[in-house]
Amino acid sequence: MVIQWYPGHMAKAKRQVTEQLKKVDVVFELVDARIPYSSRNPMIDEVIQQKPRVVILNKKDMANLAELEKWATYFEEQGFYPVAVDAKHGKNLKQVEQAAIKATEEKFARERSKGLKPRAIRAMIVGIPNVGKSTLINKLANRAIAKTGNTPGVTKQQQWIKIGKSLQLLDTPGILWPKFEDQLVGKKLSITGAIKDSIVHLDEVAIYGLEFLREHDYDNLVKHYNVDVSQDDDNIAWFEAIGRRRGLLQRGNEVDYEAVIELIINEIRNAKIGTYTFDIFSEIERDYLD
Ligand code: G4P
Repeated sequence: MVIQWYPGHMAKAKRQVTEQLKKVDVVFELVDARIPYSSRNPMIDEVIQQKPRVVILNKKDMANLAELEKWATYFEEQGFYPVAVDAKHGKNLKQVEQAAIKATEEKFARERSKGLKPRAIRAMIVGIPNVGKSTLINKLANRAIAKTGNTPGVTKQQQWIKIGKSLQLLDTPGILWPKFEDQLVGKKLSITGAIKDSIVHLDEVAIYGLEFLREHDYDNLVKHYNVDVSQDDDNIAWFEAIGRRRGLLQRGNEVDYEAVIELIINEIRNAKIGTYTFDIFSEIERDYLD
């Protein structure tokens, strides 16, 4: 999905989410498990404020599980309830309801002590485009409800979907914008497919991905492409070797760099080479977190 974000557009999206938040007991903040920092909306804490929050790290199937645990611990320390899921294949989804129960325990205990009748927990999903909001809603509901490609600003009648024994989920997710200001974050958003029409040049995205894999998964990378390139060879040498091995050539037997760039981005984006978490917790903690 391609969404162009403009200041007025962002303000409207924020207003809409803020309005919807009034209807729910708990927020499901959905992030991409490969970039648990970079795929968060920059104003998310200001938007959600003190409302109980379950942080859902989606696309677990494409992430590094050791890093995922570190991120889960971090979110727990922030007072949130993290769960890692694979919405596409319907994995770990039961944990979402369990986390929602835990996150709202205090609130419902207070309601009970005031003599209020027990009722279902109300929740909504919030996140930047392409983190899997619609996929998750459809899987949780067990039917196609949310259209992938929902755009903010489109108003429709919102409905509650019953999930499990104790949960009601708003069928329309809140869509907020990604972080734009940081080049590295932009590359991570692009290499994971959160931003498809890149705000960063695609050659830079491919180089970023290639360098990440060279540093973190060299053996697997050379095996995957069946190339004989050393870790220290420059990017051109890598593009050349991969292009020739895959037959991505143009007139004059020259390597078609654009095709190589596209190939590398697609294969990393779809976890064809390996499963990676690009937001390495120790690096993000050092460079970005307070
Ligand atoms: P959104 O509502 O947040 O914008 O995201 P959406 O559900 O449209 O999902 C964006 C893409 O991410 C979709 O792929 C979807 O299949 C994929 N996806 C969602 N959750 C997961 C997950 O847990 N694991 C994996 N591997 N993929 C996930 P697409 O390429 O746009 O469509 P399609 O190829 O699946 O048809």
